[in-house]
Amino acid sequence: MRAKKFTLAGIGLLTFSLTSATDPWNQANEMLRQAVKRTDPISYPYPDSGNNDRLKDAALYVPMDYYREDQERHYELFWREEASEWQRTVYSLLAESSDRYDNADATYTLAQLHLWGDYDFPHNKTLAFKYASRFNEMTKWSNSSILFDLGVMYSTGLFGYIPVDTVKSLLCYQVSASLGDIRAKNVLAYKYYSGHNVPRDCNKALLLYKEVADEIRDSFSEEEWNIRFPYIETYNVRIPDFSDGLLGKDLSSMDLTTKRVASARPDITSSFLTQMNGGQIVLKFGSKSSGGAFSTEDDESEDRLVDIYYTAWDDYRGTYTKARDCEASRKLLELTFRAYDADVPYMDNLQKFFYGRCLDLLGHIYFTGEAEGSPNITLAEKYLQRSIEVIEKNSNLRCRSNIDLGLINQYLYNNVTEALRYYKKVSATHSNDGTVEFQLAKLSRKYPEMELGDPFGLMQTAHLLGHCHATYEFATMTEQSMNNRYSCEDSAYLYKKFVEDNEEIMAPQLKTAYGELLRGNAEVALWGYALAAEQGFEPAQVSAAYILYQLPCNLEDPPRTLPERKQMAISYYIRAFKQDNVDAGVVAGDIFYRMGNFSKALSAYHSAALKFSPQAIWNLGYMYEHGLGTEVDFHLAKRYYDQVLEHNSKLYLAVKLSVLKLRLKSWLTWVTNGRLKYGRMEDDDNVDDSDSWFERVIKSFKKAGRENSGIPTGTDAQSNGRGVPAQRQRQNQQQQEQQPQQPDREQAQEHVTLWDRLENLGLQPEDLMTIAFVLFIFLFSLIIRTLAARRGWNVRNNNGMRIQINGQRPRGNFDIQVFAI
Ligand SMILES: *[C@@H]1O[C@H](CO)[C@@H](O)[C@H](O)[C@H]1NC(C)=O
Ligand SMILES: *[C@@H]1O[C@H](CO)[C@@H](O)[C@H](O)[C@H]1NC(C)=O
Ligand SMILES: *[C@@H]1O[C@H](CO)[C@@H](O)[C@H](O)[C@H]1NC(C)=O
Ligand SMILES: *[C@@H]1O[C@H](CO)[C@@H](O)[C@H](O)[C@H]1NC(C)=O
Ligand SMILES: *[C@@H]1O[C@H](CO)[C@@H](O)[C@H](O)[C@H]1NC(C)=O
Repeated sequence: MRAKKFTLAGIGLLTFSLTSATDPWNQANEMLRQAVKRTDPISYPYPDSGNNDRLKDAALYVPMDYYREDQERHYELFWREEASEWQRTVYSLLAESSDRYDNADATYTLAQLHLWGDYDFPHNKTLAFKYASRFNEMTKWSNSSILFDLGVMYSTGLFGYIPVDTVKSLLCYQVSASLGDIRAKNVLAYKYYSGHNVPRDCNKALLLYKEVADEIRDSFSEEEWNIRFPYIETYNVRIPDFSDGLLGKDLSSMDLTTKRVASARPDITSSFLTQMNGGQIVLKFGSKSSGGAFSTEDDESEDRLVDIYYTAWDDYRGTYTKARDCEASRKLLELTFRAYDADVPYMDNLQKFFYGRCLDLLGHIYFTGEAEGSPNITLAEKYLQRSIEVIEKNSNLRCRSNIDLGLINQYLYNNVTEALRYYKKVSATHSNDGTVEFQLAKLSRKYPEMELGDPFGLMQTAHLLGHCHATYEFATMTEQSMNNRYSCEDSAYLYKKFVEDNEEIMAPQLKTAYGELLRGNAEVALWGYALAAEQGFEPAQVSAAYILYQLPCNLEDPPRTLPERKQMAISYYIRAFKQDNVDAGVVAGDIFYRMGNFSKALSAYHSAALKFSPQAIWNLGYMYEHGLGTEVDFHLAKRYYDQVLEHNSKLYLAVKLSVLKLRLKSWLTWVTNGRLKYGRMEDDDNVDDSDSWFERVIKSFKKAGRENSGIPTGTDAQSNGRGVPAQRQRQNQQQQEQQPQQPDREQAQEHVTLWDRLENLGLQPEDLMTIAFVLFIFLFSLIIRTLAARRGWNVRNNNGMRIQINGQRPRGNFDIQVFAI
């Protein structure tokens, strides 16, 4: 068998498929088993793996456009040129095993391989679907994993490759769930919870979510559940959050989900640290005449402990570019303890603080046993105690170590009094992640006579502080209607949150998807995010939508992509919006806006405005100002612009300018009996999105120049119908013709052309006013800033103003003018 394989590998696929007489699955399987399925870019060991990960700066690249032909060309190219001998052999063995011998395993492998790009094969949706349905027929609808995959395929239509079929997809999910697939149950639970494709039914949702949650709960041992909570290396992030969120810096209303980016060195002057150092504004480490280990190394030593701490912390928790490595963290911290412990008396407060945190982390690693596989309580206690000594001796800071020591006392020594003493110390600080209340709630149920508080309230606090297991316990309490507070919605929501917090069980593919995105395989990543999006993970819905359709920046063209992909993107954004991601609602509106469907855009902005999205309210103002999808209504527009201020005072200047412009505009409209307004609106209709503003300006400049040089303007009247209403030009000419001999003709024409020339520039008087005003503001801020710099005032508000103004609605005159300046 072995010899045959090697010779055949050389001969190639055609010969093989003719010669083999038996099912080649075993051979293929053997080859696959020896190969690497997927290289994981995240744990790729970088030589300089300090806290400056090389990948940290390499932004995730997500292509905007999608062409079917491109994909097909790549696929063809791969098989023509790039495929390795190994890949060709394995593929032909698998294909033969599946096609000729109806081998189910080979068929399944082929389906997965095309979905996930295993072994560096290219992603191919058509083939993935073909093999998946074939496998499903072969196994007579009995394999729950492929049924789940098929459910997602039918419900997404594989983004344009097969027709969307919600009925079939529901059927697949249902069969898969009845066969026990936990993800399919999750999908159904979410569908009943949100009413997507099925009628909303809270009771069914609650039942299903509880079933899934119980299954997760049972996968934990008692010790993991109560004492040592497993650490979750989460990849449940929205991709746009790697670059300032969906709407961009300062405009996004949602908190970023990227909690595990590699630590940046903290700002030494931050208020927390200065407060810690006794209110001293300027921290000087090196210059302190402390002698000891620090005097010789000067600058380098001053923040060494800070560096060590963050390096160890990043190793411990893992970042998005570097996998978790508790052992490396432990080693580094052990070394630190040996090198620095004798110097504690010479350290200043900041150094003590970070040294204490190092020991705290070291103790925690021994307590959880994450580095060596089993806990070493003796060592854990030693380091935890020492860290308390270092940090708490001369300050009123409280150390996180108290939590671990409390747990040790409560569960190992059964010394509840001592445990409570530790818990009390740390409960009101930000080191408390809810563990304290979680334990107190348990203790208070066990020892009601100690009067520790209401278990329901305690568990609620623990849940609100983000304690994952407390969320489950609290959900159970709510469901059992403790304190007479039963609400189906609340319980379902809590179970849902618990289920989604356990992403390593529910959606392990999120890590794969992120890794594939790093490797540039956006389509494979899309599949990974689509699975989780179906399961109701809000960040995954945004990520999938973002891969399908990114909003272009102001001067960029919109993405060119399949209509099915755009439709799916809108659907995902709306699903995310229904889960309270207001930014996603604004983006959905923006997509409608760009499609020219203003009424839909308007209603999307309305819904988002109801959830207090400043950007949506702003957009509403714009829609009413310009009468898009509605009647022009300056009063309403002004009211919306003013409302923005209530929610985001950073936009003060931009709002004030818009309102001023609006006032001017409505005044001019009144003065000119609407002449101006209609002139402008016609312009707007003629100008399409991609028509750049500078072309317009340049054209009118040219025209203005020609006018001056005496060339008749009538000749190019058609060519620049955009800048000038042709009607007025004709009027103008008529005027000239009618009064050839009038003595004050020059003067009259002067008068008219001045007015016209303004319009020839593509500008309305209101715009000129705005330009003047903006210029004034810029000059003003320049002067103020210079003054401020001299006198040491703090004028940070001026920074970022430009960004906010540019971040307004696309194609507003406003951004154009700022650009022009
Ligand atoms: C998928 O594979 C089929 C059959 O080999 C091929 O015709 C098609 O172009 C591929 N599609 C893509 C998008 O690569
Ligand atoms: C589905 O079939 C594949 C291939 O035979 C197998 O590896 C997998 O375990 C099956 N899944 C279930 C849930 O039985
Ligand atoms: C804990 O570590 C110390 C020092 O390495 C060792 O002597 C002791 O046996 C360990 N205890 C356990 C329970 O592993
Ligand atoms: C609990 O620990 C404290 C401090 O170590 C000790 O004084 C007390 O006697 C212990 N109580 C019990 C019940 O062991
Ligand atoms: C906007 O979209 C809706 C639903 O997709 C459609 O019914 C309506 O005709 C569209 N309107 C315009 C102006 O395209």
